[in-house]
Amino acid sequence: MKTTQTRLAAVAALASSVTAIDCSKDSLQSAFSSLATVDFATWMPANSTFTVPKADIAYPTSPTQLRAACAVQVSVKNGTSNYGFGVFLPDDWNGRFLAVGNGGFAGGINWLDMGAGLGYGFAVMSTDTGHNSLNNNGTWAYHNEGAVLDWGYRAMHGSTVLAKQLTTAYYANDILYSYYSGCSTGGRQGLRNLQLYPEDFDGVVAGAPAWWTNHLQPWTSKVGSYNLPNTSAHHIPPSLFPAIGAEVMRQCDGADGVIDTIVSDPNACDFNPDYLLCTPNKTTSCLTPVQLNTLHQIYSDYVDTNQTFVFPHLWLGSEAQWIPLLGGTSNTPNNLGPHYIQYFLNRGPSWQWQDFDYGVIQQADATDPGNATADDFDLSPFLARGGKLLHYHGMSDGLIPTGSSVYLHSQILRTLAPKGINLDSFYRFFLVPGMQHCTATPSNINAPWYFAGANQAATLGSGVSGVPGFRDAKHDILLAVMQWVEMGVAPEEIVATKWVNDTLQDKVLRQRPLCMWPKKQKWSGEGDVNDADTWSCQ
Ligand SMILES: *[C@@H]1O[C@H](CO)[C@@H](O)[C@H](O)[C@H]1NC(C)=O
Ligand SMILES: *[C@@H]1O[C@H](CO)[C@@H](O)[C@H](O)[C@H]1NC(C)=O
Ligand SMILES: *[C@@H]1O[C@H](CO)[C@@H](O)[C@H](O)[C@H]1NC(C)=O
Ligand SMILES: *[C@@H]1O[C@H](CO)[C@@H](O)[C@H](O)[C@H]1NC(C)=O
Ligand SMILES: *[C@@H]1O[C@H](CO)[C@@H](O)[C@H](O)[C@H]1NC(C)=O
Ligand SMILES: *[C@@H]1O[C@H](CO)[C@@H](O)[C@H](O)[C@H]1NC(C)=O
Ligand SMILES: *[C@@H]1O[C@H](CO)[C@@H](O)[C@H](O)[C@H]1NC(C)=O
Ligand SMILES: *[C@@H]1O[C@H](CO)[C@@H](O)[C@H](O)[C@H]1NC(C)=O
Repeated sequence: MKTTQTRLAAVAALASSVTAIDCSKDSLQSAFSSLATVDFATWMPANSTFTVPKADIAYPTSPTQLRAACAVQVSVKNGTSNYGFGVFLPDDWNGRFLAVGNGGFAGGINWLDMGAGLGYGFAVMSTDTGHNSLNNNGTWAYHNEGAVLDWGYRAMHGSTVLAKQLTTAYYANDILYSYYSGCSTGGRQGLRNLQLYPEDFDGVVAGAPAWWTNHLQPWTSKVGSYNLPNTSAHHIPPSLFPAIGAEVMRQCDGADGVIDTIVSDPNACDFNPDYLLCTPNKTTSCLTPVQLNTLHQIYSDYVDTNQTFVFPHLWLGSEAQWIPLLGGTSNTPNNLGPHYIQYFLNRGPSWQWQDFDYGVIQQADATDPGNATADDFDLSPFLARGGKLLHYHGMSDGLIPTGSSVYLHSQILRTLAPKGINLDSFYRFFLVPGMQHCTATPSNINAPWYFAGANQAATLGSGVSGVPGFRDAKHDILLAVMQWVEMGVAPEEIVATKWVNDTLQDKVLRQRPLCMWPKKQKWSGEGDVNDADTWSCQ
């Protein structure tokens, strides 16, 4: 691993740290045509906090303890396309470019994830995707095709092209390699981009991708409706979610051969929900027969007319993150469902979740607003340009079912393997037992979840970048994709870390290898289960 780092450092040294133009609005404007306008450019000394502009409501948290860099914001107006992006250009540039992603329906520059990328020395970019909104607010999309296309793919590609142009002009040097890292909508953006514009990135890290937009969003309305209205007998109140999670853990933790609070093989568990049934002897932390019917729906794939598979179910072990989709306080499904139908499919605000029918899926299939769905499974153009893709998904994800990533991998396999393409030669997929949506693990599960994926650094603490204490390609998925691209060394496994209190000041509780699908974690049976070396992938 030392050799790797030394070589990475050697390549980086080739890049210039002397900039060709200065960090000012006027100088940087010279990199662009009149379609793009530099809003501001500010040089920040080392250890600065970048104060997020007030208008950026989606990502209000200001990144701290930054490397010395030039912070730039650019606005672009190009026909019906209208978006902005931010760039950090470090003084000590590693010669590489990184784009980071967004979340949900959010419109805004993700300065926080940019800060984590800056920590490696990347010239790092985030797009606002062409509008300004919180991540669960889709009203901006209503009869607004230009903005929806920007969100779907145009803003990411355009911002990438222009930010690279800016980077090259600023350093008067070519970019050695370009990377992408995003989770959720960010995962979708990475996949959609490599499908449409394979030349943009040499390496892509896509986490928990919201790739199947035209089914995921309607399913979000559908799954929410199972547990509504909140006054009905079949409603499972959120206060019972922990009891369900505890029963899943009781029955399923051991399915992988080790009792360790981590359900790492939920599909090997023959879960019997009837242990949760209320009886005269069990009157609390229990479910009535009609509530058990609701639970059955939650754990079942959404299959519609003519046995058409529409979307996979939430996995056993995801219960601790059910509140956003199943236990909201508004007595409607999470906006990420109905807003898509109301404002992307343009059914309008009078459409209500009770109106859901298969016609919604048919319309979404026929129109795919914004061309957002990343379902062009033929990744061979990306392979042909030498691209490398790392894909991961938390097994305890309560927002985007883990099975949707398994399904994606399977569709890509079925598209490419018959052509004689070995997926592992350019695309590797890792499940993360016990990790929730993109980051974190519940305190009663304590699964290793940190490997410097998108959004993760900020969960660990302000100013964090990479994997503190373990700055190598074995523990850091971004370094892993770099090593694969630049040295041809493909990751067989990624070791994930759990700190005791998920803060930097405390000590490591557990480390464990994440396995390349379809391999599974297997404990050796000897030594400390919290030690990564006692596990292997089989
Ligand atoms: C960096 O800034 C933080 C405040 O954000 C401060 O607490 C810390 O002492 C600074 N570190 C250095 C090395 O200047
Ligand atoms: C403007 O849009 C056109 C058409 O989509 C595209 O070809 C061109 O590259 C865009 N220009 C910029 C500067 O983004
Ligand atoms: C959603 O966005 C619209 C306009 O874009 C705004 O009027 C509305 O207040 C927002 N709703 C929430 C809950 O933020
Ligand atoms: C309920 O509990 C009582 C007293 O502990 C026990 O005798 C009885 O068998 C239990 N009933 C069932 C159905 O488990
Ligand atoms: C379901 O199958 C029947 C019989 O093949 C066909 O007529 C019908 O159009 C199908 N419905 C849908 C929604 O695809
Ligand atoms: C049901 O939702 C309504 C509307 O948001 C809320 O006022 C009420 O408190 C909820 N009731 C329960 C039992 O959760
Ligand atoms: C959507 O993508 C397809 C290719 O996947 C392309 O043919 C079509 O022109 C795109 N539509 C728009 C509006 O960008
Ligand atoms: C973790 O947090 C708990 C509660 O705040 C504290 O008692 C404990 O010392 C912390 N552990 C470490 C290793 O920092």
